[in-house]
Amino acid sequence: MKKRVFSGIKPSGDIHLGNYLGAIRNWVTAQEEHDSIYCIVDLHSITVAQDPKELKRNIRELTAIYFAAGIDEKKSTVFVQSHVSAHSELAWILNCFIPMGWMERMTQFKDKAQKNKKRVSVGLFDYPALMAADILLYDTDYVPVGEDQKQHVELTRDTAELMNSRFGKDLFKVPTPVIPKTGARIMGLDDPLKKMAKSDDKPNRSVYLLDSPDTIRKKIMRATTDSLTEIRFDKERHGVNNLLTIYQLCSGKTAKEIEAHFAGKQYSDLKRELAEVVVEELRPVQQKAKDLLNHPDHLESLLKTGAEKAEEIAQATLKRVQERIGLG
Ligand code: AMP
Ligand code: TRP
Repeated sequence: MKKRVFSGIKPSGDIHLGNYLGAIRNWVTAQEEHDSIYCIVDLHSITVAQDPKELKRNIRELTAIYFAAGIDEKKSTVFVQSHVSAHSELAWILNCFIPMGWMERMTQFKDKAQKNKKRVSVGLFDYPALMAADILLYDTDYVPVGEDQKQHVELTRDTAELMNSRFGKDLFKVPTPVIPKTGARIMGLDDPLKKMAKSDDKPNRSVYLLDSPDTIRKKIMRATTDSLTEIRFDKERHGVNNLLTIYQLCSGKTAKEIEAHFAGKQYSDLKRELAEVVVEELRPVQQKAKDLLNHPDHLESLLKTGAEKAEEIAQATLKRVQERIGLG
């Protein structure tokens, strides 16, 4: 039996290099070995304000990026979360078991609530319960995510164990987070102490996957470094370390090879070469994504097939849970 992988990204803004290097690229590798399910988690997006038209467009764009990056519909199941109602249904059930105190500890909620004091929805607080439902519905073994999601996957594990201890240990499979050794936290170009993110109003923070080559070059050339000169991997030198990490992931070279290559060179050389490897890494993805976006009917049909496959697995789990806890 193959192991099952599940992961997702929110369609709530432009997909960036952090999403790609920290998540999507690893999903493409995972599908070769595992039974993989990749979701466009639109219900998670609406935990913060969204423009309806933009949300719709972002869902199609993210779908195109998944396939363009190499996720293969023959090897993986790709679907939109809201197309499979079991996600909302299981989330409600989990809500009734997850202790408030567990949720109150979630650092992502605390950060986001801090930034958005005026409009913090109940959904934003409850976000991890829906994420736990996503994962547990598919009897998931592995959850490949960036560092920032580790706490949510741990809450999912705790939830599974809590319910298993009450309703039988075969109720839920207990999932394991898989965090990449390199690239789990790509930092902002303008401020390497903040992570690269979708929803930032800082125009030079993130390289977006569909940015033009010139925009990518401009953003990288402006990246914040430091006042030293030596180009080497050093976690304390956040800016340069981040640029080297991105270079390593896009070039496929080892840290040693990269340090030897840049010995005696200047930051401007590093930035120039980095911009080119990023542009080349993204070029085929951008081309394919554009082709796919020009064929919306094809995208729709891929999503329909994906939702049908997901629905079958999700419904079976939901039924099992409903029965065990005595519903209906
Ligand atoms: P999100 O953009 O929050 O929907 O995240 C989607 C996926 O990308 C998750 O697995 C995140 O952990 C990952 N991710 C988001 N931002 C970064 C980043 N700056 N570096 C690495 N991975 C990231
Ligand atoms: N919360 C995740 C993020 O912001 C997205 C997500 C939702 C997810 N459901 C998931 C990731 C299930 C992995 C598994 O990145």
